[in-house]
Amino acid sequence: MLLKDKVFIVTGASSGIGEELCKQLSTSGSMVVCAARRLDELERVSKAINVLGGRSIAVQTDITITEQCQKMVGKTIESFGRIDGLVLNAGISMWARFEDIADVGFFKDLINTNYLGSVNCVHAALPHLKETKGKIISCSTGQALMGFPSHSGYAASKHALHGFLSSLAIENKAEITILEAILGWIRDTNLRGNAYGADGKQRSMPPKKHTKESVALDSCVERILVGIKKDWRTVYIPRKLRLIPFFKAFWRWYLEFRADSVVTKPEKT
Ligand SMILES: NC(=O)c1ccc[n+]([C@@H]2O[C@H](COP(=O)([O-])OP(=O)(O)OC[C@H]3O[C@@H](n4cnc5c(N)ncnc54)[C@H](OP(=O)(O)O)[C@@H]3O)[C@@H](O)[C@H]2O)c1
Repeated sequence: MLLKDKVFIVTGASSGIGEELCKQLSTSGSMVVCAARRLDELERVSKAINVLGGRSIAVQTDITITEQCQKMVGKTIESFGRIDGLVLNAGISMWARFEDIADVGFFKDLINTNYLGSVNCVHAALPHLKETKGKIISCSTGQALMGFPSHSGYAASKHALHGFLSSLAIENKAEITILEAILGWIRDTNLRGNAYGADGKQRSMPPKKHTKESVALDSCVERILVGIKKDWRTVYIPRKLRLIPFFKAFWRWYLEFRADSVVTKPEKT
């Protein structure tokens, strides 16, 4: 897909990967609808794009509310007349072993945001995406393809989204394309800092610092854009994550050992 003069909706545009995606899509010639709950942050992102000559609007949207997703799509059509790309990026995470969790109520928030919130967005945008032979892009994770300690509810929500999008890809193969970005640890976003802890509350501090194996935000987004332009079905960031399905089939014990050690290894001070 060429990016010039295309119209993208990006959910979770108020920080991290979503913010950077809006900026890089705009630099590549696309028009961008920045969507998330915090309007002041969305307006900051949209303003930064527009002062550089880009075209973007901020649309306050809580993706867990169906009507707000319909409104987001309606505003996009009203402002730009079409939708070429829907980026399912809004997401929340957790960091706690299951047995340590006092109240599992926040698992509903994980499912409502990461899975059902994306379903809401796709349901509202699909007819418009079919008209343009457009693309859905999911900012997913290696944890959509394998289990991961301390992330049980998050991994489950991303597995659900993966299953949903894989089914949509078959149902709509002549009309839309789907790109799943399978991401590892990405630096300089708020995901880890906002993750739910064992007390069922969102943290105010990251549970662990990123290691040098993590990926810089701008390189991550540059590579997602390569995947969009080349019409790939999957992009693995970093590339070594493409080995997950292979290890899962043949050396599952090694994959699980690595996942466990990443989470439990004490931090270097
Ligand atoms: N960072 C990583 O290491 C990593 C790795 C793998 C996958 N991912 C995925 O990448 C995506 C982006 O994460 P990030 O790292 O950029 O985290 P982030 O900086 O925390 O961004 C998350 C975004 O989601 C939005 N959001 C949360 N709940 C929402 C809701 N109900 N409705 C609308 N927007 C909502 C937040 O905005 P508001 O609070 O303003 O609504 C924010 O803009 C997530 O789906 C995450 O699972 C990240």
